[in-house]
Amino acid sequence: MNFIPYGHQEINDEDIKEVVSVLKSDWITTGPKIKEFEDALCSYINCKYCVVVNSGTSALDITVQSLNLPKGSEVITTPFTFVATSNSIIYNDLTPVFADIQKDTFNIDPKEIRKKITKNTKAIIYMDYAGQPCDINEIKKIADEFGLYLIEDACHAIGAEYENKKVGNFADLTIFSFHPVKHITTGEGGAVATNNKEFYEKMLLLRSHGIDKSIQERYGSNATWAYDMKYLGRNYRMTDFQAALGISQLKKLDLFIKKRQKVVTRYKEHLKKIKEITLPQVNCNVNHAWHIYTILLDETIDRNAFFKYIKNLNIGVNVHYIPIYKHTYYKNKFNFDKNDYPITENIFKRIITLPLFPSITEQDIEYIIECIKKAIKNSKK
Ligand SMILES: Cc1ncc(COP(=O)(O)O)c(C=O)c1O
Repeated sequence: MNFIPYGHQEINDEDIKEVVSVLKSDWITTGPKIKEFEDALCSYINCKYCVVVNSGTSALDITVQSLNLPKGSEVITTPFTFVATSNSIIYNDLTPVFADIQKDTFNIDPKEIRKKITKNTKAIIYMDYAGQPCDINEIKKIADEFGLYLIEDACHAIGAEYENKKVGNFADLTIFSFHPVKHITTGEGGAVATNNKEFYEKMLLLRSHGIDKSIQERYGSNATWAYDMKYLGRNYRMTDFQAALGISQLKKLDLFIKKRQKVVTRYKEHLKKIKEITLPQVNCNVNHAWHIYTILLDETIDRNAFFKYIKNLNIGVNVHYIPIYKHTYYKNKFNFDKNDYPITENIFKRIITLPLFPSITEQDIEYIIECIKKAIKNSKK
């Protein structure tokens, strides 16, 4: 069996044609295709504004920067996420505070958020783990009560719905990633969705050095020489050929999600019969976008032995995530105590991510299931 990765992009001839057509044009960097991609995202999400950038990490950075919080303010987030989520807090001279997760969805637990609030808390970044929206109503209640900004890290969750409304309409700012393992890709890329005009206008500047003129205004045929740098921004611009890929990919997003949901149904049918495995739970008020599919192994199985065994059979399993406070940088800079995060600790020791992408075949799934059964037998503690 050839190697089956945990995630893979789906690029067809139509996508390639769109990219090539921009490459053959006069304008390849941030230009007309960017606005077209932003408009397409707005109409898909049904939100007012979108700003596309060169990665989900950049999207997080300008999102936090646009809040303009006093230095040292605390921002509450989940420890069970990719490092970029909490790094965005540190980039902006703010302090990350972790709140433990729920044991069934692995999303941040609103009850734990409440416990972490101090007079310095200014914002919450919640992350929709695996593509399942968090308990947004509960998180919003807390934000309203304490006057906090909300950022939704929806890098796993483009196209997901909460109470029949698309993610991108709940928090003050919502971010997405277009990395190749995500639902749709631009190679690297990201976006921020918002319904707030002030944030939108500020982020347009922040993605390009904080300068008040777009690249087209500075280099196009009607360009003048003057511009002003209003904020300390960076170069987070996406190219037009990436945006062309994004526009083409977005047309297929619903189909990709449906295919992912179908794969998950197949996994569930097979895996629910294995007593050593617990399957992820889905709340009834969401439409889960399934970026990743994870299983939990019970205490009789050695997760690392399982991982090694199955990897040797050419299956690209993974672990999402190493809790952020375990990374060297965080250990050196902060004083987080793992005992404050008992659920994260427990889940981290038992979790495995299985391959999930739209074009995975029935034959691949059957092979993966057979290998899981063998791995369980061979990884007993
Ligand atoms: C939850 C989460 N946040 C942020 C990011 C960063 O996105 P990017 O890789 O596009 O910078 C990722 C990417 O893996 C992610 O999974």
